[in-house]
Amino acid sequence: MTADNDNDFPALVREALAAARDLRFPTSRDEADGRDPSCSLPDAGRVLAMLAAGCQDGRIGETGTGTGVGTAWMASAMPASATLVTVEFDDARAQAAAKVFRADSRVRVVHGDAQLVLADHAPYDLLFVDGGWTADDATVDLLRIGGRVVFDDVTPHAALPADSPLRKNDPKRDFFFGNLRLVSVEVVFPDLANSLLVGTRTA
Ligand SMILES: C[S@@+](CC[C@H](N)C(=O)[O-])C[C@H]1O[C@@H](n2cnc3c(N)ncnc32)[C@H](O)[C@@H]1O
Repeated sequence: MTADNDNDFPALVREALAAARDLRFPTSRDEADGRDPSCSLPDAGRVLAMLAAGCQDGRIGETGTGTGVGTAWMASAMPASATLVTVEFDDARAQAAAKVFRADSRVRVVHGDAQLVLADHAPYDLLFVDGGWTADDATVDLLRIGGRVVFDDVTPHAALPADSPLRKNDPKRDFFFGNLRLVSVEVVFPDLANSLLVGTRTA
């Protein structure tokens, strides 16, 4: 496995990462040093890009823009006919992200509380839940049939500490694998230390 190099990323992703560094918003788990939150990992970005690329004429939503790293992975891959709305609570991050996407009329950065804004733009073909949101059955209602919901910042079971409470009770996995309207999978990243969950709405 080779280390990620910013130069290999789409230009918008590089711009969003630069904006994060300007604001001292952590760009990696190491920088976050146990503090939440931080930018999405490149492997999460690649999965998001792959899913966004299938959103022909579609609508993409995101809770918790940060400075727009995940947004940038999706916007760089989504078809010209797709639109994306992303909601960020923090004023400085929302402003920084709006600047990153100033030239892309398909992307709308909303400064606000996702809990108050997200439903206004539903239904979604792809929904990336990355801040200020607790998954429940109402989250599935925000998707079109066939639409996908993604949660990152997951630790694969094999990488969890032996005493982790998540071994017994994991609300994220319960949401994805317990919801009868979702067909879900965990995507483990090449570092084997991080993963994401993605589910498709079937009914
Ligand atoms: C993990 S970070 C987002 C990272 C970003 N999605 C990326 O790809 O780099 C979570 C973000 O959610 C934001 N947030 C927390 N609660 C929120 C809410 N209720 N509405 C909107 N944003 C919220 C935080 O300010 C933070 O910037």
